Amino acid sequence: MNLHSADSGEYRISHVIMPLFYQHNINEHTRLAIWQIAEDEGFFLEKVPHHRDITHPHKRLQHLAGRYLLPLLFSDFPLEEIMIADTRKPFLPNEKYHFSISHCGQFAAAIASSKNRVGADIEMIATRIQRIAHKFLNETEKNFFNEDYKAFLDQWSLKDKVYTEYLTMMWSAKEAIYKWHGNGGVDFRKNIQLLKFTNINHEQEISLPFVFAKEDIVSLSVNTKIFDEMVLAWIIS
Ligand SMILES: CC(C)(COP(=O)(O)OP(=O)(O)OC[C@H]1O[C@@H](n2cnc3c(N)ncnc32)[C@H](O)[C@@H]1OP(=O)(O)O)[C@@H](O)C(=O)NCCC(=O)NCCS
Repeated sequence: MNLHSADSGEYRISHVIMPLFYQHNINEHTRLAIWQIAEDEGFFLEKVPHHRDITHPHKRLQHLAGRYLLPLLFSDFPLEEIMIADTRKPFLPNEKYHFSISHCGQFAAAIASSKNRVGADIEMIATRIQRIAHKFLNETEKNFFNEDYKAFLDQWSLKDKVYTEYLTMMWSAKEAIYKWHGNGGVDFRKNIQLLKFTNINHEQEISLPFVFAKEDIVSLSVNTKIFDEMVLAWIIS
């Protein structure tokens, strides 16, 4: 298992070494981690008190892994107090922590903050996203790619790879914003707008400036990171 850390060689959460795929202690209030699921359900059920009735075994495993991460981020996270809103957003009624969960393939991610609202999303990188790009990207956002990557236009194979990464990053960023907002009813093309694109970089996190315009107009900075086969996006505000 590859271990990635954004914390300069520090692979610990709450002073306990954990078999995590990625961790980032973002600030004193906010922590994020990704778990690569290699365990069976029994492993997670030892720590996760109860779970929703999910019939699909892999979805149930992903769900349990997401919950399992929360007390790893903060040991006093009260898992048993989690409630589910009508929008399906999980939350703690006393807001001791704000948190957000995501899963894809063999991975589960969670972010939690004792202070700020958060949203997180992970997505596997796959070319099939090109077929649904029109559902979540508006014309301006499509043009960012075409204009910024003119140099790749005659190298189709490279353009195709970078385009897939760009789309996955945009989808993941908008899903993270959707979860941060939490109330549903968001039109990804109209309500969420990327303001400016910066080049794709595999070495470090990329910060993307968005505007979320629904009840109010809010400027949001979404942080994204590209791993070999997956994109992570997270937001704190
Ligand atoms: C809810 C949604 C964001 C989940 O995303 P996903 O990629 O399918 O799944 P993920 O694994 O990333 O996220 C699932 C987690 O999101 C969380 N979640 C679900 N609904 C949520 C909501 N309304 N707000 C915040 N978080 C939510 C839950 O924690 C869930 O995991 P859990 O049930 O195990 O606790 C997604 O299904 C959705 O509805 N997106 C909006 C779609 C849309 O409007 N698209 C328009 C453009 S095409």
